[in-house]
Amino acid sequence: MKQLLIFCAIATAVWACGGAESSSDTPSSQPAAAAPAKPDGKKIYKQYCVTCHGLYGDMGASGAFNLTTSALTMEERIAVITKGRGAMTPFENLLDADEIEAVAEYSLELKVE
Ligand code: HEC
Repeated sequence: MKQLLIFCAIATAVWACGGAESSSDTPSSQPAAAAPAKPDGKKIYKQYCVTCHGLYGDMGASGAFNLTTSALTMEERIAVITKGRGAMTPFENLLDADEIEAVAEYSLELKVE
């Protein structure tokens, strides 16, 4: 009999705890502040680069190099876009580093193997 009482006490405690848990349902917390959205390279390209390179990178206005065949690496593209080269204007005052990186990444997507 004593054992049964103990069992009941434990069972009640567990049940109480379980009940408390489900009722302490706090509104699901928002995920920690998301990283700032990455700039849209395609949008930047359409805004700043199509005038010379064309929508597909192969227009070549003002002697613009063909981006569908360019063999430049990501770093080299970032350098050309940031500082400009020849007839290409530098973008360091128009775009921030993240935007330059995003548009350089997009220019790599234009590449045709
Ligand atoms: C005023 C016209 C013009 C605009 C606008 C322009 N470019 Fe250029 N781009 C050029 C020219 C001209 C060259 C070739 C430079 C040279 O003769 O050395 C070039 C070269 C490049 C190259 C090097 C290609 C290679 O293989 O050497 C990359 C990459 C490039 N541009 C990307 C961009 C991106 C990305 C943008 C937009 C942010 C952009 N360009 C905007 C004219 C332009």
